[in-house]
Amino acid sequence: MKPISLTNTEQKDSDKQSQAQLIEQGQLPDHIAIIMDGNGRWAKSRGNLRSYGHKAGVDSVRDITEACAQLGVSYLTLYAFSTENWRRPKIEVNALMRLLASSLRKEAENLNENDIRLETIGQIDRFPDKCRRELQEVVELTKDNKRLNLCLALSYSGRWDIKEAVKKLAHQVKEGDIDPEDINDDLISCHLSTADIPDPDLIIRTSGEYRLSNFLLWQLAYSELYITETYWPDFRRKELYKAIHSFQKRERRFGKLPNNEQESKSKLHIQELTT
Ligand code: IPE
Ligand code: IPE
Ligand code: MG
Repeated sequence: MKPISLTNTEQKDSDKQSQAQLIEQGQLPDHIAIIMDGNGRWAKSRGNLRSYGHKAGVDSVRDITEACAQLGVSYLTLYAFSTENWRRPKIEVNALMRLLASSLRKEAENLNENDIRLETIGQIDRFPDKCRRELQEVVELTKDNKRLNLCLALSYSGRWDIKEAVKKLAHQVKEGDIDPEDINDDLISCHLSTADIPDPDLIIRTSGEYRLSNFLLWQLAYSELYITETYWPDFRRKELYKAIHSFQKRERRFGKLPNNEQESKSKLHIQELTT
């Protein structure tokens, strides 16, 4: 496979080694979701305007996307703009829209050449025409790509997502297409905006905030959480490797007993019940 290059720099041998080590030492998350937070504080700590932080954040997006593609992570979902972010001052919202449109224009070919598919979730119709067009063009251009699925959450919120799914299901019940009793976890999942994407295995939040801020509320039910104090513009691949390493050391139990106890305890339990 052709080596991936989004950052236009040759991959260092030490980085290749770090990636090989991660791949060897455990299972990689198939889907990583990230709440990219702290751009404003990063800029302020340098005496700069918030928009400077958003701009620097784009370099982190490029680096993390490239590292995920190199590692063989299948899905990367980035929380880039929440439904609530529309409440920010117009000047900041406009700067973010301009940055999104220009970044998409610059990166479109690069994403395509590297076999990366771009998708979006959220209320894209709320975006200015120019942004929406750029988005649609990149989504169309990259739709057959297979190496990494990069999903941008734009004007997204978990509650909006669930609300829309509930509306669709309510209509189907009203039309008599489904019975209320047919509604189960899978049916809800496949009516969410993430219907084609598996639930995240690992959710990372930068900038030390311990909250979900209305991100994938349904989909994160059993995702592993990783929170770092690092602001998003400083979050580069080495930080990503730390997060993945932490993920690899966890045991995901999904409500069951630990792996080494599950089998023996259930036998014991049957014995207890039958004696
Ligand atoms: C995240 O950085 C980017 C967006 C929410 C668009 P912030 O802009 O929230 O930065 P802080 O949290 O104020 O530092
Ligand atoms: C969450 O960050 C949204 C994105 C990263 C796009 P916010 O900065 O908007 O979250 P709060 O307001 O601190 O919860
Ligand atoms: Mg923030």
